[in-house]
Amino acid sequence: MEHVIDMNELKNLKIELTRFMMAYKFAIDEMSTKINILKDEFNYIHEYNPIEHVNSRLKSPESIFKKIYRKGCDFSLEAIKENVKDIAGIRITCSFISDIYEISKMIASQKDVTVVDYKDYIKNPKPNGYQSLHLILQIPIFMSDREELTYIEVQIRTIAMDFWASLEHKIYYKYNKEVPHHMVDELKEAAIMASQLDKKMERLHHEISEIKQASQANESHVLLKDLQLDKLNLDLESLSLPIIERFLPGKKDK
Ligand code: GTP
Ligand code: MG
Repeated sequence: MEHVIDMNELKNLKIELTRFMMAYKFAIDEMSTKINILKDEFNYIHEYNPIEHVNSRLKSPESIFKKIYRKGCDFSLEAIKENVKDIAGIRITCSFISDIYEISKMIASQKDVTVVDYKDYIKNPKPNGYQSLHLILQIPIFMSDREELTYIEVQIRTIAMDFWASLEHKIYYKYNKEVPHHMVDELKEAAIMASQLDKKMERLHHEISEIKQASQANESHVLLKDLQLDKLNLDLESLSLPIIERFLPGKKDK
């Protein structure tokens, strides 16, 4: 017998699917805010920007269904939720390798974040040379009538790793997943070179930081302008000197 689709059923399915996908969109919004806060604060403390850029993507329903088909799972929202943990995806591109671990620690230690899976393809690159730090997180999303614990995949990598991964991805699909041997070898070689570049850049950055710190330690006093309060629109100059002095170390009991 031919299956007849009830228009009402279809309408309800559409509403249900939309609500399902919305939670992941909110998870991206929530994580993006967390990352932006960390970025601004880090920038303020260390005086450089550890995050080059942040990209996010919501997996298309088509890719979701392809993945559960590939995994042989049930076609139910519950099964999708538990088996496709990268519906919400965020990619953070950092300046240096140490930033990757620092940012990941900062995210993982937040009270409402649970780390469900942690894959370090930097310490253990994939056989093709792929490097990145992958976290599968679970965060609560507060909706009008419920709290939804939502999975989100966070990939953290350097600019060099990102450059490599996007080229490798293009080649992989260009050759329909059958990459010629010489290209596989060259990609692997390029991944090693990218890793060497990352390490060299980090050493240079470290050296510059040390020189900067040493010269700052030699300065006998901090100028108000060095506090960079202008970034926060805090106009300290407008305060009277006695008030400022009360906030400075060693001036409290006078
Ligand atoms: P998926 O089922 O694809 O999610 O793989 P997985 O569960 O084994 O997870 P894994 O952490 O290995 O990879 C997840 C994601 O990392 C992929 O969807 C890609 O975005 C990225 N990725 C992993 N391996 C590679 C690779 O070799 N090349 C590139 N360009 N990206 C990769
Ligand atoms: Mg994936």
